[in-house]
Amino acid sequence: MAEEMSRREFVRLGANVGVGVAAIGVAGCASPAPEAEIDTPSSMFGEETEMSKRVLVGYATRTGSTVGVAEAIGRALSERGYVADVKPLRERPSIDGYDAAVLGSAINGAAWLPEALGWLKANAAALGAMPVAAFCVHSMNGGDDERQTRKRLAYLDKVREIVTPTGEGYLLGKGPSEDDTSLVMRWAFKAFGGTAEGDARDWDAIRAWAEQTELGEETVR
Ligand SMILES: Cc1cc2nc3c(=O)[nH]c(=O)nc-3n(C[C@H](O)[C@H](O)[C@H](O)COP(=O)(O)O)c2cc1C
Repeated sequence: MAEEMSRREFVRLGANVGVGVAAIGVAGCASPAPEAEIDTPSSMFGEETEMSKRVLVGYATRTGSTVGVAEAIGRALSERGYVADVKPLRERPSIDGYDAAVLGSAINGAAWLPEALGWLKANAAALGAMPVAAFCVHSMNGGDDERQTRKRLAYLDKVREIVTPTGEGYLLGKGPSEDDTSLVMRWAFKAFGGTAEGDARDWDAIRAWAEQTELGEETVR
C-alpha cells in the first residue's frame, strides 16, 4: 500500500485511475529525468573558536528540497554555537573531526535514500561514539493520528538499526501542487496518506527542531 509508495506503485496507481503519469512523482513537482543532475552544494555555518564544536549536517536528496532543509538546520545549529558543515552524503564526507552529526534524507519508498543509509553503515563505528540526530524530509503521513504517526516513525526504522538517534525530526518537504499535478492525482495522493501540498517546508518548524534537538553537552559561545 501507500506505506511503501515507490515510483512504480505511484505510476501503477496512476494507471489504475486512468491517468498518464509518466512525468509525475509523489514529490509533487515533475520528477527529474534520471539523467538530470540535482545540485547538492556544501556549505558552512558558524565561526570557529577555541570552544566551538563541529557538527556534520549530512543530507541526501533526490529532487532537491532537502538541500534547503539541511542548510536551515546548519544555520540554526550555528546559532547554538556549533560550526556546522552541511554536506551531501552521496559525496561520502569524512566523519573525522566532528563532535556530533545531524543526518537527514528525503524519504522515498518509506525509507531514507540508499546513499544515506550506505554512508550511515560505513560510518557506524565512528557515529556510535558521538551524538547523532536524524531527520526525514517527506510528503506523506504527516498527520497526528495513530496510523500516520506509526508510518512516519517507521521511516527511521533502518536508521535505528544502525545508530540510536539522540533526536528525530520529521519535516515536510514538497508534495504535488496544482501547477504540476492533476486534480485526480492530487486526490489519489491524499487518499494514500499524502500530507504536503506543494512546497510544504515549514521553516519555523525546521528551525525549531534544529534549535532543540538533543546533541549532548554543548559549548555555548
Ligand atoms: C519516488 C518517490 C517516492 C516517495 N516516497 C515517499 C514515501 O514513501 N513517504 C513520504 O512521506 N514521501 C515520499 N516521497 C515524497 C518525498 O519524500 C518528498 O517529496 C521530499 O520533499 C523529497 O525530498 P527531495 O526533494 O530532497 O528529494 C516520495 C517521492 C518520490 C519521488
